[in-house]
Amino acid sequence: MKKEKMKLTPWEAKGEMDYNKIVKEFGVSLLKELPPVFNENLLFRRKIIFAHRDIQRILEAIKNRKKFVMMTGLMPTGKFHIGHMLLAQQMIFYQKLGAKIYIAVADLEAYNARAQSLEDSRRIAIEEYILNYIALGLKPENCEVYFQSERSRDAKKSNAFYRLQNILARHATFAEFKAVYGEITPGKMISSLLQASDMLHAQLKEFEGPVPVVVPVGIDQDPHLRLARDISQRVKSEKFIQLSSTYHYFAPGLGGGKMSSSEPNSFIALTDDAKTVANKINKYAFSGGQATAEEHKKKGGNPDVDVPFQYLRFLFEEDDKKLQKIYEDYKSGKLLTGDLKKYTIDKINKFLSEHQKRREEAKKLLDKFIFKG
Ligand code: TRP
Repeated sequence: MKKEKMKLTPWEAKGEMDYNKIVKEFGVSLLKELPPVFNENLLFRRKIIFAHRDIQRILEAIKNRKKFVMMTGLMPTGKFHIGHMLLAQQMIFYQKLGAKIYIAVADLEAYNARAQSLEDSRRIAIEEYILNYIALGLKPENCEVYFQSERSRDAKKSNAFYRLQNILARHATFAEFKAVYGEITPGKMISSLLQASDMLHAQLKEFEGPVPVVVPVGIDQDPHLRLARDISQRVKSEKFIQLSSTYHYFAPGLGGGKMSSSEPNSFIALTDDAKTVANKINKYAFSGGQATAEEHKKKGGNPDVDVPFQYLRFLFEEDDKKLQKIYEDYKSGKLLTGDLKKYTIDKINKFLSEHQKRREEAKKLLDKFIFKG
């Protein structure tokens, strides 16, 4: 089978991801040694968050106990699945570190780039995303969740946010849009200026004032960052501190390709029940094992491409030593595919049964998160 050519834009990710090529082409830096607190987080410790731009500024803020903001956004389409947990966990991690959290629900972007109504976006954002964030541990204190279509009830803040989007427009060129995004429509152009305002507005006096901002995203969102960083430095009426950002790998879909909300058999949703999870892993999860148990015992499996193993590594096996042992035993053939699958299913289901209870509880807290500002 011919491998599909990689295509990666903020609105499309297709084919096999070549991360080395991405790092080179996008010009992001690989993450090196981080202060010890970062190692408490599995995603940093295992280098799943692998690249950055200007992270130093954030490390300094943490070291000197200075204020900083973590800003990111969500595209509210489809089911909330385990791949979405990566960003949620980063929000919670930075919140614990003392960051002020800004979360944009990209309902206008979904309208312009995905033809989804604002009503659908609102419902999906709440039901699927925000409830799950709360259940995963996001706290209302020091946290603003807003919709792009409705930044704030406070007119001064709202005006400042949309004013910035318009001011940024003068400092971008059409050629730049084309170079960054490839195919571009007026709606997409407006969306990326709005996303630039998402990323930069925390620094306005109506919000936090000058403050370092880190934007954790999937690598596909880097074009938005490049544009926002470039144009922010051309604005003279405001002095923006350059944006920092981090980039994480995508958790693989069940079949080994991309995990996509539009393909139910590519993901595990956080609302899936135990039977569905077992069925999905057993039936659809790509295995790095051999065709028969005999062969597997002889030749061993390949954990690097094995999807159940990757789910343990990305999300569900906190214990590094255990993970290492599973890796070695699978590679040597001692651990069979069926047993690895069973272990993974049990881990996921244990997490989900607790999580789903917390998600019910989270419904009571929803008001504390939305339309505070
Ligand atoms: N474009 C992002 C996505 O498709 C969502 C988003 C909107 C965002 N505003 C943002 C991400 C600001 C980071 C920062 O998922």
